[in-house]
Amino acid sequence: MPLQFPGNFRFGSATAAYQIEGAPHEGGKQDSIWDVFCRVPGAIVNGESGDVACDHYHRYEQDVAMMAGLGLDTYRFSVSWPRVLDGDRVLSEGMDFYSRLVDELLGKGIRPWLTLYHWDLPAALPGGWTNRDTAEKFVDYALALHERLGDRVHTWTTLNEPWCSSFLSYAAGQHAPGGTDIADSLRAAHHLLLAHGLTVQALREVAPQAELGITLNFTPAIAASDTEADLSVARRVNGTANRFFVEPIFTGHYPSDVLDDLAEYWPDDLVHEGDLAAISTPIDLLGVNYYTTNVVRAGEIEAGPTPHVSAPDAVQVLRDLPLTEMGWEVHPEGLRDLLNWLHTHYTGPAGVPLVITENGAAFDDRPDADGYVDDTADRVDYLRRHLGAVHAAIDDGVPVQGYLVWSLMDNFEWAMGYAKRFGIVSVDQNLRRTPKASAQWYGQVARTHQLPD
Ligand code: FCB
Repeated sequence: MPLQFPGNFRFGSATAAYQIEGAPHEGGKQDSIWDVFCRVPGAIVNGESGDVACDHYHRYEQDVAMMAGLGLDTYRFSVSWPRVLDGDRVLSEGMDFYSRLVDELLGKGIRPWLTLYHWDLPAALPGGWTNRDTAEKFVDYALALHERLGDRVHTWTTLNEPWCSSFLSYAAGQHAPGGTDIADSLRAAHHLLLAHGLTVQALREVAPQAELGITLNFTPAIAASDTEADLSVARRVNGTANRFFVEPIFTGHYPSDVLDDLAEYWPDDLVHEGDLAAISTPIDLLGVNYYTTNVVRAGEIEAGPTPHVSAPDAVQVLRDLPLTEMGWEVHPEGLRDLLNWLHTHYTGPAGVPLVITENGAAFDDRPDADGYVDDTADRVDYLRRHLGAVHAAIDDGVPVQGYLVWSLMDNFEWAMGYAKRFGIVSVDQNLRRTPKASAQWYGQVARTHQLPD
């Protein structure tokens, strides 16, 4: 029996500005931290960058038409802050670009879903997110953008995956700006959350009807055994990977065990009075990004900072599961469990619905002579099973209102460059777009709201 999704369930796709736009210096746009980071030798696989990416900046009409052709009803995109503002100065060409994109979407019946920050911070901001002032500047940026687009954009996400833009970016050194200092990563994390909270407050004032939220990434950790050491590692990984951001947003407190774990790094003057009240300003929906679940055990303590700042001794234990090209285990049941966990502990008590704002997979795509990729056996299977998990969570009583596939098209996968392809549409060397089997399949699901067996 095919599974039926509710009629108002949103099916769409997601992208991010730096991963698709190209046009790094048009219209007076200055560098973002990703423009700068991509120039650091060794930072990106093959020394690649988003300079051209999918050239979406010049081809957005074609891309919107493609989404409409597939029958998608929602498009989550991000705005490049340095494309629309140079300091306090509004860059009209950049603003015009997003305004035309929004009009194009609305004209094709696609709901624009705007993410304010998907990692491309203006490089000129001193100290980046380690500087508290950046949170204030972010509010001004959000308001400037709202002034131009607020009459047409109803759904606003403040941040995409602050775990990545703090721990991965300021402690693990893997993302821009490439920092390797745990205290800095905690400053970044807190200032990102503060920026989120202050922006929700500011947008709420000017747009009481808007739908405001944040997108967090969750990679649940399961202890490999019941030994104290393994349980401790799993708790600490879950602490920073999964609870550190969602908990203050919904409860107004950082998790106390995580604060204890990180006490030696926690900057004394970091949290000011009123910060947590701002951070826990009520939101209208939580965006959930899910790709995989990890089994972890206690192992050797690594010398340098790791992505799990509170668990440098975490070692992943692979199960007998298929792996994506990222090396991520395919574990759809983890998504159902995650949605139930969030609903029980955080979003449910607050009466906040959930949307899957990213889910998808990179596989070893082999285009045929016409550029067509038949990804039925891997990507379609991945999407089908994860959508099944979402459906099961809805049956469990979790209010999940939509699913946005990552990603609309193959694009610049950050430090991994172009080799990792997540698109349901392929993009070749000549920037030609060709829908894969998964695009056809997903379009059918979107149009019918039915998940075939
Ligand atoms: C997420 C990012 C997105 C993309 C996917 C694969 O962490 O938000 O930009 O890179 O992973």
